Amino acid sequence: MNLKIKEKFPFFKENKDVSYLDSAASSLKLQTVIDSLNDYYVNNGTNVHRGAYKLSYLATEAFEETREIVSKYINSSLSEVIFTKGTTDGLNKLANSLANMINEGDEIITSELEHHSSILPWMNICEIKKTKLVYIPLDEEGRITIDNFKKVLSDKTKVVAINQMSNVLGHLVDVKSIAKLAHEKGAIVIVDAAQSVAHTKIDVKDLDVDFLAFSAHKIFGPNGVGVLYGKKKLLEEIRPFEFGGEMANSVNIDYMDFKDIPYKFEAGTPVIAEVIAFKEVFKFLNEIDTDKMFKHEIKLKDYALEQMKNIKGIKIYNLNSDSPLITFNIANIHPHDIVSILDSKNVYVRAGKHCNDLTHRFLKVNATLRASFSVYNTKEDVDKFISALNEASNFFEGFGD
Ligand SMILES: Cc1ncc(COP(=O)(O)O)c(C=O)c1O
Repeated sequence: MNLKIKEKFPFFKENKDVSYLDSAASSLKLQTVIDSLNDYYVNNGTNVHRGAYKLSYLATEAFEETREIVSKYINSSLSEVIFTKGTTDGLNKLANSLANMINEGDEIITSELEHHSSILPWMNICEIKKTKLVYIPLDEEGRITIDNFKKVLSDKTKVVAINQMSNVLGHLVDVKSIAKLAHEKGAIVIVDAAQSVAHTKIDVKDLDVDFLAFSAHKIFGPNGVGVLYGKKKLLEEIRPFEFGGEMANSVNIDYMDFKDIPYKFEAGTPVIAEVIAFKEVFKFLNEIDTDKMFKHEIKLKDYALEQMKNIKGIKIYNLNSDSPLITFNIANIHPHDIVSILDSKNVYVRAGKHCNDLTHRFLKVNATLRASFSVYNTKEDVDKFISALNEASNFFEGFGD
């Protein structure tokens, strides 16, 4: 990838020596995103959809332009894009709204690959509604296969809530085939695309899923904003997530009715600057060759893997993953000890459970290390990472005996 890409991320001005390998947790922010945030706060600051004066019109226009660019990017209709605070927010609100369609005896299908944002909202509803949570058995590598999905799919299935790309193992799930089968049973398919949005093209029409959620901060955008895509027909059917300003049409003492989608789902003042700035992410993605970007990330991962295999005591949990993340441990060394040593060498990786207890239980391990690669990473970052890992491994050698 062109080294000039780094110049688009101001992080590297102050942190020249940092090898940032934790983009799966949060990516770095584009300069254009930061400029846009600043521009709104300095030059505008008015509310959207409410003010009948010039600056509010301009803010509204800029806000709605983001909806347009997002909808084009994921191939949805304009009204199918709902702005949320992020993946967690979108998935929780959706689950709570769908809860009144769930009855005792229904089943919700999910997997042990889920981030807590994808699974806990449904665990909660299953507890309240006496509904069963059914897990797709994972294969040896920790993948969801279509054959295994068929084993749990039944006439009782009401909802399938799964990720498109695991945040621990990085496997890409065939959500298109899953949606096809689930729809034959009349089930609703909800996809957590928090990881996949940064590493694969998303076309909601092609996937034919019912709902899909992601966060801006995982793809070079601001914190506090995300998207929930929903199929028009379903969005029209379900009740709003929240009630408040700018989502109602008419309110009487014993009656309320709501605006059309997507506005019935956007109660209250949104995160205006963040939504406006999110547009810059899609401008960037449309400008660069995303296929090249995805290939660059995978190439770095493969380059790292080749060298990691030689580190004494290393266990890699996802040698064949589809995303640019490597999840691993080194025998007898606590992941947090390794992180500390890497930190001292300005190499940032993540340690812990990554908000995903179930996958760690599946792997039969308490915690893991995770290195994730993004568009701004280089071979030099990998070299620094490997050298720091070797140093950590040598330093702790013998400690666990
Ligand atoms: C797969 C997956 N789902 C959901 C989330 C939650 O995203 P957010 O914290 O932006 O709501 C994450 C974040 O790490 C994730 O990796």
